[in-house]
Amino acid sequence: MNKLALLGASGHGKVVADAALAAGWKHVVFFDDAWPGVRVNGRWPVVGDMTVLMSRLPEFDGVLVAIGNCAVRWRKQQELRSAGARLATVVHPRACVSSYAQLGEGSVVMAGAVVNVDATVGEAGIVNTGATVDHDCVLAAGVHVSPGAHLSGNVKVGSCSWVGVGVSVRQGMHIGAGVVVGAGAVVVKSVADDQTVVGSPAAPLVPR
Ligand SMILES: CC(C)(COP(=O)(O)OP(=O)(O)OC[C@H]1O[C@@H](n2cnc3c(N)ncnc32)[C@H](O)[C@@H]1OP(=O)(O)O)[C@@H](O)C(=O)NCCC(=O)NCCS
Repeated sequence: MNKLALLGASGHGKVVADAALAAGWKHVVFFDDAWPGVRVNGRWPVVGDMTVLMSRLPEFDGVLVAIGNCAVRWRKQQELRSAGARLATVVHPRACVSSYAQLGEGSVVMAGAVVNVDATVGEAGIVNTGATVDHDCVLAAGVHVSPGAHLSGNVKVGSCSWVGVGVSVRQGMHIGAGVVVGAGAVVVKSVADDQTVVGSPAAPLVPR
């Protein structure tokens, strides 16, 4: 837990960096394709783009993709893994993760979040600040549970779905892959793949 490379110099990246340092990592640097135009992200340096990161992988004890976009995060993680990166998992020390839960490689669990017994968070998953993932939930790769969102027990979420800030999901619901659940929605019926749903009860967002 010495040198950690984060790909994605964003606000989300800063939260990951802060959690990583709290969790015991000693040094954090960012890589971002906006480099060399962007050279700093908050108090952390941006030292290269993805190509530079690929060439420097052996220097890092851990690499983590800190990109909010779910599909991009998952794709970049797979590219890094294929190139031999040592993928890190970061759990903020003030998160509560059951010892009977599973966290996939490249996942992050932020401050105040809870991952309960027998839940699974897939690779490149984000359980964001104060979110809860209750017992027996199964989150596929690349899922983001935003701040303050709550998944009741036995909820399944397909790959690269984004559960928005403050969402509530009734127990046993199945949210498909590539879904966006809009901020504040209350999900009381299962949601098919690639839908955007909003409101209470959540329903498809119809473009005007
Ligand atoms: C659902 C969402 C993806 C839609 O984004 P968008 O496609 O850019 O939609 P727009 O902002 O153009 O809004 C389109 C319409 O949907 C409505 N709408 C948007 N988001 C909504 C939501 N969460 N709940 C209810 N209605 C919503 C807007 O009021 C607007 O209605 P109108 O046509 O009557 O004016 C987005 O609003 C959202 O909720 N994102 C999640 C944000 C979040 O959780 N961030 C956490 C970051 S960690």
